[in-house]
Amino acid sequence: MFKIFSLLISLSFILMLFSCHQAVEMHAVTSPDGKSKITFTNTSSGMRYEVHRDLFEIITPSDLSFELIDGSIIGKRVSIIDVEASSSDEEWEQVWGEKRFIQDQHNEIRIKLKNEEDPKIEYHLVARAYNDGVAFRFHFPEQDILSTLQIADEHTHFNISGNPDVWWNDGYLKNIADPYEKIFQNTKVDKIDYANTPITFEWEGKFAAIHEANLTDYSEMKLKPGKSGNDLRSFLAEGPNGIKVERKVPFDTPWRTIQLADNEAGLIENYLILNLNEPNQIEDVSWIQPMKYIGIWWSLHLGIETWMAGDRHGATTENAKRYIDFAAANNIQGVLIEGWNAGWETWLDGDEFNFLDAYDDFDLEEVATYAKSKGVDIIGHHETGDDIPRYENEIREAFELYRKNGIRAIKTGYAGPTRPDQYDKHGQWKVNHYRMVEELAAEYGIMIDAHEPIKDTGLRRTLPNSMTREGVRGMEWNAWSDGNPPSHTVILPFTRGLSGPIDYTPGIFDVLFENSRDEMNEIFSDDEVRKNARVHTTIAKQLALFVTLYSPMQMAADLIENYEQYDDAFQFIRDVPVDWEDTKVINAKIGQYYTVARQERGGKDWFIGSTTNEEERVFDLNMDFLDENITYKATIYRDADDANWETNPTAYTIEEREVKSGDVLEIKLAAGGGAAIAIKAIE
Ligand code: NOJ
Ligand code: CA
Repeated sequence: MFKIFSLLISLSFILMLFSCHQAVEMHAVTSPDGKSKITFTNTSSGMRYEVHRDLFEIITPSDLSFELIDGSIIGKRVSIIDVEASSSDEEWEQVWGEKRFIQDQHNEIRIKLKNEEDPKIEYHLVARAYNDGVAFRFHFPEQDILSTLQIADEHTHFNISGNPDVWWNDGYLKNIADPYEKIFQNTKVDKIDYANTPITFEWEGKFAAIHEANLTDYSEMKLKPGKSGNDLRSFLAEGPNGIKVERKVPFDTPWRTIQLADNEAGLIENYLILNLNEPNQIEDVSWIQPMKYIGIWWSLHLGIETWMAGDRHGATTENAKRYIDFAAANNIQGVLIEGWNAGWETWLDGDEFNFLDAYDDFDLEEVATYAKSKGVDIIGHHETGDDIPRYENEIREAFELYRKNGIRAIKTGYAGPTRPDQYDKHGQWKVNHYRMVEELAAEYGIMIDAHEPIKDTGLRRTLPNSMTREGVRGMEWNAWSDGNPPSHTVILPFTRGLSGPIDYTPGIFDVLFENSRDEMNEIFSDDEVRKNARVHTTIAKQLALFVTLYSPMQMAADLIENYEQYDDAFQFIRDVPVDWEDTKVINAKIGQYYTVARQERGGKDWFIGSTTNEEERVFDLNMDFLDENITYKATIYRDADDANWETNPTAYTIEEREVKSGDVLEIKLAAGGGAAIAIKAIE
C-alpha cells in the first residue's frame, strides 16, 4: 500500500530561482525507472506543468486552470501550501483482460494549493509517474467557503513539443450525436481540429497518447487547437445553462493521462489507464464471463433481413434457434438477438422502443429456454435511439425481464441524434447515465456491451461487468457506406484501442457479399453506395482481427452460411480464446502493420494476429516468447500467395508445422491482408 514520505528528495524538489525578488517553485515526480517525468512550476500566471520522457520534452510548459460559471478563474495565481509525496508498488489481478497480472508501480506528489484570487479556495493537484506514462488530476476538498463547484470549462493545456505526427479523429461536438465512428487522420499536430481522445503522437523514437482515466460524474474531455497549432487545449462536452460540470465538494476530477513509450509496443503493453482506476467493486464475479458470440445482426446491416417484423424479419424464434444450434456446435458461447422487441418501425422517428414486448413471431421465453438447454448465452439488446428518459423509466423492468429468462449479457445502443433537451452526448449528464446503466446491470448480474457509448476510461477495472463497447467505426460501416480502408485496423490498436476493449465485430468471410449481392441489389436497386459496399480486407485478415483487436466479447459477425462455406478457416474462430494471460507485441508501425501474440488465460497455447494496410509484407516472426520446454504445433491461416484485398480477397492457405521457442516463422501478408496463427502445446 501507500507509504507516505515527507518530502522525498528523489521525487520532488523545490528549486527557488531568485530573479527580481521572485521565487519560482518547481516540483517534479519521476517514474520508478526514471524515464517518465512530470514537472510543475508555480509561475506568476499560475501552475504550469511539463512532461519528459528521458531527456526528451513531450509537453512544454502548459497552463492548468478552471473557469467557473460566474466568470471567476481558479488557477491564475496560486500559492503552494504543502507538498506530500508517496509511492506504490503492487500487483493486482484482472477479472478478465489482455494480461492477467498488472504491476502498479508509481510515484505520486500531491501539491496543496490556494487560489490567490476569488474564490480563495484550496485545491490539490495530484500527479503520478509510472514507467508507462504520467497523469494528474485535481482534488477539491471540503472547505467552509465552497459547497458546490459549477465549472464552465477546464483549461488544461497540452503544449505539444515540436510538430510530431499525430493520429486523431474528429470530435466535433455539434456533429449529430458523435459516437466516435470516424476514420482516423494522420497529420502533423498543427493540422488538428477538435479531436477525440485517445490521441496518439509520434516523434522520432518517442510516442505519447493523451486520454483520461476514471471519467466519473464529469464531462468528457476533447482537445481543440489553441493559437499556435501545437498548443492543444482541453474542451469539456457541453452541459445545461453553460455549466459543463457541477459537483459538490469533496470531489476528484478524472485523471488527465499521458501514456509514454519509446516504441509502438510500449503503447500497447501499457496499463496506465487501468492502474488509475479504482479496484474491482463486484464481489462475486463468477457470472462475468468473456465470450465469443454470433448473432442475428449482419443480415440486418446488409439489409437482407429487417429489425422490424415483416416478410424479412430476422429475429424469429426459428432463426434464433438456428443460431443457437450453430453456436452450440462451434464453441461459440453467445448469440445476440436484435430486433425481437416491438417498436423498430419508430427507430430514428420517435424511437418508441418497447423493451418488454416481443413481435408476434418471436417467443423470448421459448428461445431463452432453448438456449439454456444447449448451454448457450443469449445476448439481449436495448436500442434506445438515445431517448434516455424513456430508457431510464423502463430499465429496471427491462433488466428484470432478461434476468428472469437467464440472460446475463445485454448490448445497449444509443443510435440517434442528440435531443435538444438532453445536452451533449458526452456531457456530465450522459456520462452519469452510462455509469448508472453499468452499476444497475451489476446489481442484476448483467454484462454490458455498449454501442454508441461514452468512451472507455478504464472503468472495467472497477466494474468488470462493463465488458466491451463500440465507440469506433466498426464493421457495420462496411455494409452500408464506403466502409473502412485497409489501414483502419492497423491504426485502431494504437488509438481507440488504448482506451480499452473494442466491439469491432470482425470475422466477415464473404468480404465481397457475393452470397447476398443479388438480394441486396434487388432491395436497394437505387443505392449506388450499397451496391459497391464490401469489406476492404482479405479473409485471413478477418481472422487476425480476433487477436489484434482486443475484446472480451468478440463477435464472429458473418452469416452462418458463410462460415459453413469456409469451414476450414472457421476453425480458427472455434479455437481462439477471448481472455488472456499475457500480451506481447511482435512488430508494429502505426497505420502500417501490427503483429501481436497473446497467451490463453490459464493455458499454454498462444495465438498470433498479424495485419497490414494496403502494402504486402513478409515478416520473420521470432517465437522467443514460447516456453523453452514445450514443443508446439502451429496452424497458420494466411493469405494465399496470389491473394490481394482488392482483387483476390478470399484466397487463403492453411498450413501446419512444429515450432519451438527461438524458431523464426516467415509469413507473407497480402496487400490488405493478414495471418492468424494458433500455437498449441503438444502434450
Ligand atoms: C448501431 C449499432 O452499432 C449496431 O450494432 C446495431 O445493430 C444498430 N445500431 C441497431 O441497434
Ligand atoms: Ca454504431
